[in-house]
Amino acid sequence: MNNIIFTHEAGIELKRILASIPSEDIFVLVDNNSRNYCLEYLQPGYILPKHILTIPDGEHNKSLDYVSEIWHALSKRTARRNSVLINIGGGMITDLGGFAASCFKRGIRCVNIPTTLLAQVDASIGGKTGINFDGLKNEIGTFSIPEWVIIDNHFLKTLPLPHLLSGFAEMLKHALLADEDQLAEIMQADLSRASEEEFLGLIRQSVAIKTAIVQSDPREKGLRKALNFGHTVGHAIESIAIQKGLSLYHGDAVAYGMIAELYLSVRHTGFDEKHFKAIQKFISEKYPPYHPVAEAETLYELMLHDKKNEHAGVNFTLLRRPGEFETDHYCGKEDILEALQQIQCS
Ligand SMILES: NC(=O)c1ccc[n+]([C@@H]2O[C@H](COP(=O)([O-])OP(=O)(O)OC[C@H]3O[C@@H](n4cnc5c(N)ncnc54)[C@H](O)[C@@H]3O)[C@@H](O)[C@H]2O)c1
Repeated sequence: MNNIIFTHEAGIELKRILASIPSEDIFVLVDNNSRNYCLEYLQPGYILPKHILTIPDGEHNKSLDYVSEIWHALSKRTARRNSVLINIGGGMITDLGGFAASCFKRGIRCVNIPTTLLAQVDASIGGKTGINFDGLKNEIGTFSIPEWVIIDNHFLKTLPLPHLLSGFAEMLKHALLADEDQLAEIMQADLSRASEEEFLGLIRQSVAIKTAIVQSDPREKGLRKALNFGHTVGHAIESIAIQKGLSLYHGDAVAYGMIAELYLSVRHTGFDEKHFKAIQKFISEKYPPYHPVAEAETLYELMLHDKKNEHAGVNFTLLRRPGEFETDHYCGKEDILEALQQIQCS
């Protein structure tokens, strides 16, 4: 965590960490929204360099075409091995810029300034970078830790509520992987105050939970799989939405997935049923309507082909209680279909 800065003065922090680097060696990557909403806030503390690369926002732009565009821009403006790329934006920008930086001249340094809640608590930390390729999400990528991450929740002032909710699902997941107290605190959080000082404390705790898990298993050989909690079902839900051309936020799919996977935890690893019901209610009330019953069979088929499965069946991370989890737990079709029925968000 010692290269992650939590602040309400992102511009001043940026100036401090880049003090010794000449401005011609500094490059900035933004999308149109982070350019419009976030750059001005940095200016009082930090004078932006002239090399600012802007790409259009949207997940479909996390692509090889834009990586290539970034590499062209860096080459043309004679970036060197000791240049720095500052990624300012949501997870799309930190994944894309992180990937481009990790390969350019065999790797230049990058600084992440995440401007969405999802990027602050998840995407910008932990060292996974990547792009979508051949219709597959995050198919190409690297493990590459950013030199610095500056987290300032002032940026969340302009972030629309659906994006806040999407990031909040990952905070809920981290709390479930931590302990009862953390969970209780997160369930009382007020998203309308996400840009205030107190919320920065919750973000810091959430980041600490993720980084502790990542540090114990940087390459996802064992313990890091816990961070997939809610994602086996969540990814299947996302895949159907993509196939149908529906827009669905990543965190929403994870929230629905957590309901199903907590139910499996009740059945398989003894998670307390009352506790499950409380979390099911919490998610159902907060997140948009979703009833997967009609597509349960398709969801099951998608899960069966998930790359995390190492043998027959579907691989899950399940919880015994908040803070205690079991990775590589295989469940059968009947249980999974029953678990999907528990997702009834109205
Ligand atoms: N590397 C990892 O470990 C990891 C983990 C989780 C998710 N991800 C990736 O993160 C991406 C999703 O991230 P996301 O949810 O941040 O999406 P995103 O980057 O697409 O941002 C969501 C929207 O918010 C806009 N935006 C950004 N900052 C804003 C601000 N301050 N005010 C107003 N609008 C703003 C963006 O332009 C975009 O339209 C996915 O590509 C996912 O694969 C990566």
